[in-house]
Amino acid sequence: MKRILLLLLAVVIVGGAGIMLFAWSGLYNVGASAGHMAITRWFLEFGMRNSVETHALGIDAPPLAEPALIERGAGHFQGGCAPCHGAPGVQPSPVAQHMLPAPPELSNSIGIWSSAELFWIVRHGIKYTGMPAWPAPVRVDEVWAMVAFLERLPRLGPEEYRRLAMADLGKITDPTDKAPPTALVGLIEGDPTACARCHGLRGEGGAAGGVPRLDGQRPEYLAMSLQDFALGSRPSGIMHPVAIYLTAEERTRLAQYYASLGQGAEPHHHQYAPAPDPRLLELGAAIAEKGVPEQSIPPCSSCHGPRGRAEDKNPRYPALAGQHYHYLVNQLELWRAGVRGGTFAELMSTNVRNITDEQIRAVALYYAGLSRR
Ligand code: HEC
Ligand code: HEC
Ligand code: HEC
Repeated sequence: MKRILLLLLAVVIVGGAGIMLFAWSGLYNVGASAGHMAITRWFLEFGMRNSVETHALGIDAPPLAEPALIERGAGHFQGGCAPCHGAPGVQPSPVAQHMLPAPPELSNSIGIWSSAELFWIVRHGIKYTGMPAWPAPVRVDEVWAMVAFLERLPRLGPEEYRRLAMADLGKITDPTDKAPPTALVGLIEGDPTACARCHGLRGEGGAAGGVPRLDGQRPEYLAMSLQDFALGSRPSGIMHPVAIYLTAEERTRLAQYYASLGQGAEPHHHQYAPAPDPRLLELGAAIAEKGVPEQSIPPCSSCHGPRGRAEDKNPRYPALAGQHYHYLVNQLELWRAGVRGGTFAELMSTNVRNITDEQIRAVALYYAGLSRR
C-alpha cells in the first residue's frame, strides 16, 4: 500500500516537472493562429458548457418579452458586442475573427442556452477567450435586458436589427440645425457613441420607452448624469462606455442641446405603457403630492416640483414629467435596491426604500402622463 502511494507520488512529481519543463522550454505554441488540436478544442468546450450549466443553477429569469427591455439591450449590442460577434447585416471586425476561439455568430448558437445560462455568460464573461464580463456588475437588470435581446436575435432580419439597434443613423438629417455632431453621428463618423442611436433623433428616448427621454430635461441634471456615468458613480454597463469618451465641454454642450429640445413636447402616453388605469393614477398622484408617511415616503413633489418639472428646485434635480413609464419603473426599482448611484444617491434612495411594486407602477404612470411644458 505504502509502495503504491510512493509510486503515485513519484509519478505526480515527475509529471508536474515534465509539464513545467515543457512550459519553460517555450516549445508550446501560444499563437492564436496555430489553432487548437481537435481534442483540446473538444475539452475546452466541454469544460465551458458544464461550467456555465452548473453556475447558472438557481438563477430565475424574469419575464423577458417586454419590448422596452429588448430595446435597451439592442442599442448596447451594436456598440458592445457586434464588433466581435457581428449581427444581422453587420460583419464582425476581421480583427476579432482572428481571436482563438473566434467569437461565434450568435444567431446560430443562442438556442442551446437557457435564459439563466445566457445571463450568467453575459454577466461574468468567459475566461481565456476574450468574452468580457458586464462592465457594471451590479446592474443585473441591464444584463437581463441583454438576454431579452439575445433571445430575440435569431428571429431578426437586417432591417429590423437596424431599426432596433441603430435608429436610422444613415438617413439622419439634423432636425434642428444645431445638434452637436456627437448627438447624431458620434465622435467619429458611424461611431456607436452617437446618442441618437439609442435616445432617438430628437432625444425623445427609445421607441419602446426602454431608453430615457433627454429632451426638455434640465441641463445641469443631464451634465451631472453624464459625469456620474463616466466616473462610474452611477453604474451602467451601457452608458459608462459612452460617457467616458466625452470631455467636460462636450458633456455641457450635449446637455444644453438636449435641454433646449422638446420644450413644447406633449406627454406621450406611450403605446407600450400600460393603459392609464384611473385607480392607479389616483394612487400615483397621492404619492407624488402627499407621500406615504407610514412607509416614510416623502412627497416626491417636494424635490421634483409640483408638476414633476423640478422648476424652482435645485437645478441638478431631474424633471420626471413625461419621462417614459418603463424607464421610471426601472429607476425606482434600482433606487429601492440601493444600486442606482449618482451624485444624490443617498438623498433619493432613502425616499423609496419601502415602496411597493404597485406604488412604483402607480407613481411612474402618474409622472409619465404629465406634460414637460
Ligand atoms: C472582444 C470580443 C468579444 C466581445 C466584445 C463580446 N464577446 Fe461574446 N464571446 C467572445 C468569444 C471569443 C466567445 C467564445 C467563447 C467560447 O467559445 O468559449 C464569446 C461567446 C459568447 C457567448 C456564448 C456563445 C456560444 O454559443 O458559445 C455569448 C452568449 C456571448 N458571447 C454574448 C456576448 C454579448 C451579449 C456581448 C456584448 C455584451 C459579447 N458577447 C461581447 C468574444 C466577445
Ligand atoms: C447604446 C445606447 C446608448 C447610447 C449610444 C447613449 N445612451 Fe444615454 N442612456 C442609455 C440608457 C439605456 C440609459 C439608462 C441608463 C440606466 O439605466 O442607468 C441612458 C441614460 C442617459 C442619461 C440619464 C438620463 C436620466 O434621466 O437620468 C443621459 C443624460 C444620457 N443617457 C445621455 C446620453 C448622451 C448625451 C449620449 C451620446 C453621447 C448617450 N446618452 C448615448 C443608452 C444610450
Ligand atoms: C429629497 C428630495 C427628493 C425627494 C423627496 C424625491 N426625490 Fe427623486 N430624485 C431626487 C434627486 C436629487 C434625484 C437625482 C439623483 C441623482 O441622479 O444623483 C432624483 C432622481 C429620481 C429619479 C430618477 C430620474 C431619472 O431621470 O433618472 C426618479 C425616477 C425619482 N427620483 C423618483 C422619485 C419619486 C417617485 C419620489 C417620491 C416617491 C421622489 N423621487 C422623491 C430627489 C428627490
